[in-house]
Amino acid sequence: MKDRQSLGDTPPEQFRRQLHELADWIADFRENIEALRVAPDDKPGAIGARLAKHPPEEGERFEKILSDVDRLIVPGMVHWSHPMFLGYFGWTTTAPGILGEIISAPLNVNAMTWRTSPAATELETLVIDWIRQWVDLPKEFDGVVYDTASVGILHALAVAREEAAPFARKRGLAGRADLPRFRIYTSDQAHNAAEKAAIALGIGEENVRRVPCDGEFRMEMSILRKMIAADRQSGFKPMAVIATAGTTSTASVDPIVELACLRHEEKVWLHIDAAYGGGFAILPEYKWITEGWSGADSIIINPHKSLFVPLDFSVLYMCDLERLRRVFTLAPPDVLRGDTVEATKNYMDYGVQLGRRFRALKAWIIFRSFGREGLAARLREHIRLANLFADWIRNDDRFELAAPVSMGVVCFRFLGGDNNKSVAGIGDAGPGSPTPATAGRLDRLNSEIVERINASGRAYLTQTKLRGQTLMRIGLGNVLTTEEHLRKAWEIIQETASKL
Ligand SMILES: Cc1ncc(COP(=O)(O)O)c(C=O)c1O
Repeated sequence: MKDRQSLGDTPPEQFRRQLHELADWIADFRENIEALRVAPDDKPGAIGARLAKHPPEEGERFEKILSDVDRLIVPGMVHWSHPMFLGYFGWTTTAPGILGEIISAPLNVNAMTWRTSPAATELETLVIDWIRQWVDLPKEFDGVVYDTASVGILHALAVAREEAAPFARKRGLAGRADLPRFRIYTSDQAHNAAEKAAIALGIGEENVRRVPCDGEFRMEMSILRKMIAADRQSGFKPMAVIATAGTTSTASVDPIVELACLRHEEKVWLHIDAAYGGGFAILPEYKWITEGWSGADSIIINPHKSLFVPLDFSVLYMCDLERLRRVFTLAPPDVLRGDTVEATKNYMDYGVQLGRRFRALKAWIIFRSFGREGLAARLREHIRLANLFADWIRNDDRFELAAPVSMGVVCFRFLGGDNNKSVAGIGDAGPGSPTPATAGRLDRLNSEIVERINASGRAYLTQTKLRGQTLMRIGLGNVLTTEEHLRKAWEIIQETASKL
C-alpha cells in the first residue's frame, strides 16, 4: 500500500520546477529547431520498436519521461514547424500560438454548453465574429469552430441534405421511395473531404461528381452546367456544389460569383471550401477572393492553414446558423438538463461532438498578439517568397512553372538535364509534346527529386499531379522561413536534380 502522502497530483513546488524546465525545453526547441532534420530517416516501425512494449506498472519521473521525448520522439518527427518544411498547409506554429495551447491546458474546459463553459463559449463566438469582420462576410453569417475542414464540410452537407431531403435527420435516407439519388459537384482539383462527407451522410462516394477545370485549374462552369442538366434528365437531384478558394495542389480559386448565380438558378446548396484561401481574404489586395461569398450557404476557413493558428482550428460559417442547429440539436440528456436551460448558445447543438476543446483561446491570443496588420505582413511575406521562388524557376532552363503562382503555393517541374522547355511541352513552354516514354521518365524524375530531398532531412516538399503529370510543389506559410531558407531549398532542389 502506498503512503497516502504520495497520492494525488504532483506537489505544487515540484510542478513549478517541472514547468520551468518545460518552459526552457519549449524555448530551446523553438530556437534550435533548424538544427534538427526536417524528417526522420527511420523505416516504418523503427520508432515503435524503440519504445517500451508494456505499460508501466510504477510511475516514472517527469525528467526521465521528458528525456525520452528528446531521445525517442523528437527525432522521429516530421517537423512541420521547421523553416525548411515546405510541404502541405498547416505549418502555422507561432510563439503566441504555443502560449495559447499551454494556457488552455490547465483550464481544461469542455466547451459543450454555455453553462459548462461560459467564457469559452462567448470567446468562441467572438473569435468567429472577428474573422467574419476581417474577411468582410455579412452579419447573417455565424459559425462554429471544429477541429478540421473535413469535419466542417460534413456538417455543412448534412444541412444541405436535410434541405434537399426533408426529415432526413429523423427518418434517414434508406428505404425512402419519396427521394431521388442526390448529386454533389466539385472540381477535379477539390479536396476529397467532399467524398468523405458523402460516404458518412449516406449520399455515396460515386455521387460526388468531379468537374474538369480550365487552364488555370478553376472549375469549368459550362461543363458543370451540362453535368447538372444531364443528371436532372436521368432523375438525379443536384444537392450541392462545392467551390474551392485555394485548392490543395495549386491554390486556384473557382469562379464563385458565377457559382453563386448558379445556386439560385438550380436551387442547390453552395459550399465554399476556403480552408486555405480564406485567411488571405484579410488582405485588401486579396479581397477579390471573397466576391460571391455572400451568395453562399456555407464557407469554411481554416486559420490553422493560413492565419498562424496551430492545428487544430477550423471555422464553418453558415448563412443563418440556426439551420445547422435544427439538424443537430436534440433534447439534452437528463444529466445535462441543468446545464442547458439558461444557455444563450450551446455549441454541442451545432454538430455531432459533445465534448469540445477550448480552441478559441489560442486564436484570441494569436490575433491579439499579431493584430490584423501583423498577420497581413506575414502573409504578404509568404506571397513575396512564393513569387521570388517562381522567378528562380523561370530563370533556370531545366525547370518550368506548372501552374500560376497563387498565394503561398508554387508548382513546378524538372524537365530533365538533357531536355529543355520545348521538349517537355508543358506550362508556358510552347507546342512541343513529350513522347510517352519521355513523359514517364520526367514523372519518375520529379517524384524522385522530392523523395530524395525528403529522405535527406534537409528540406521537405511535396509532389502532386496536374493534368496527369507528376510535379513538385512547395508551400510557404511558416513564420520562421526566410528568403535565406528558401534559397537553400532551391539550391538543394537544383543539386538533387543535377545528380539525377
Ligand atoms: C483546400 C482544402 N480543403 C480541405 C482540406 C482538409 O483540411 P482538414 O485537414 O482541416 O480537414 C485541405 C487540406 O489540406 C485543403 O487543402
